[in-house]
Amino acid sequence: MSELQLRKVAIGVTGGIAAYKSIEVLRGLQRAGCEVRVAMTRHACEFVRPLTFRALSGAYVIVDDYSADNPDPIAHITFSQTIDLFVIAPATANTLAKLANGVADDFITSTYLACTAPILIEPAMNSVMWNHPATQRNVQKLRTDGVHIIEPDDGEMACGTIGPGRLSHPERIVSVALEILSRSREQVSPSGSSATQDLINERILITAGATREAIDPVRFISNRSSGKMGFALARAAVQRGAQVRIVAGITTAAPPSDVELIEAASAEDMRAAVFREIDEATIFIAAAAVADYRARHSSPTKIKKSDSDMILELERTPDILSEVARHRKNGQLLVGFAAETDNVTSNAQKKLSQKNLDMVVANDVSREGSGFDSDRNAVTILVRDNPLPIDVPLSPKLEVADRILDEVARLRRPAFSATSAESSKQ
Ligand code: CTP
Repeated sequence: MSELQLRKVAIGVTGGIAAYKSIEVLRGLQRAGCEVRVAMTRHACEFVRPLTFRALSGAYVIVDDYSADNPDPIAHITFSQTIDLFVIAPATANTLAKLANGVADDFITSTYLACTAPILIEPAMNSVMWNHPATQRNVQKLRTDGVHIIEPDDGEMACGTIGPGRLSHPERIVSVALEILSRSREQVSPSGSSATQDLINERILITAGATREAIDPVRFISNRSSGKMGFALARAAVQRGAQVRIVAGITTAAPPSDVELIEAASAEDMRAAVFREIDEATIFIAAAAVADYRARHSSPTKIKKSDSDMILELERTPDILSEVARHRKNGQLLVGFAAETDNVTSNAQKKLSQKNLDMVVANDVSREGSGFDSDRNAVTILVRDNPLPIDVPLSPKLEVADRILDEVARLRRPAFSATSAESSKQ
């Protein structure tokens, strides 16, 4: 029996040309063992008939809950409270606008307001409509409200325009839906109660991966970071209710599929991306392995070899974390990493005080089976005002991430936040 068997998923189909792709979403979820029900807007029925979804789902498809043949007189409440996930795909610009503003003038929007299950939205529309500031504002609002959003794909639209706005592949929507379902299952403890949502009011910005500093168009300076630790922190933080954004350098690991990710290849790009986002963040976790040096003069053309040695002059990259610490706003909590090979704790302690951080996570990268590109890690967590280092033994990175977030959540509790505000004034 599949782990997700009997998980109940509702699909809301709104009126766009991509409505036919929802059939594939429904089939994919059913293949994974989910029980699926469908609701549609009136305009969606112009593209696909409710009968198609009824035949495939084996259940009444609600378009108008006031309709005489609707078997349930308070369908938006019963429907919304008996599901484990509400997927709205495709979501039109109009539906996004209504959801973002709490307008409940049809079955799907009323169900959204009455729903306590996680919500996954897949917008699809013409590129100009998608890029419109009003749509982007609405998407942002929905993210702030804790909705999972899959960005539409780039490509050719039904109207012939090329750009972002195409409904993402149904397999991708299904895989993100299953990931959300398995996370919400993990959040239920064996006793059946929900796991802690202790970061629910936090907006966490995380840097992840390595940076790449160009020497010329084909050569660069970089390091072995895979991004696994930063991505594990993002996954664990989402599970605990936080809103998360990642600024990722070069990574080889798969990022969490429903977390907003901003790409930044070099230290300079990463710095710019972090400073665009930092004002909104309540917590900053610098898990990226930022190259400390770059070529002073990167060549725009390929450097040809000669018979003599080559001397590469290096200069320091901006220290993003220190700069964030210098400009930090009251109450912002800052976590750094320290990759060390010797004197791990004392070197990390220096970083904690010199960079004016709240926490440093030190890892011994010389240790076999942990650190860079490994699925496991062993770390020592140093927290300001706590003289005792916390040792986390070699464990999967998701568990290490949770242990780090335990300390973050502890620092956010009222007794600690007063001190955080104090230290941020320095
Ligand atoms: N960091 C940063 N910007 C840099 C370098 C590092 O934001 N240019 C961040 C990393 O993401 C990490 C922490 O700072 O959280 C690491 O600090 P750093 O002093 O650079 O550590 P190491 O690179 O390990 O320093 P050193 O090489 O001196 O040991």
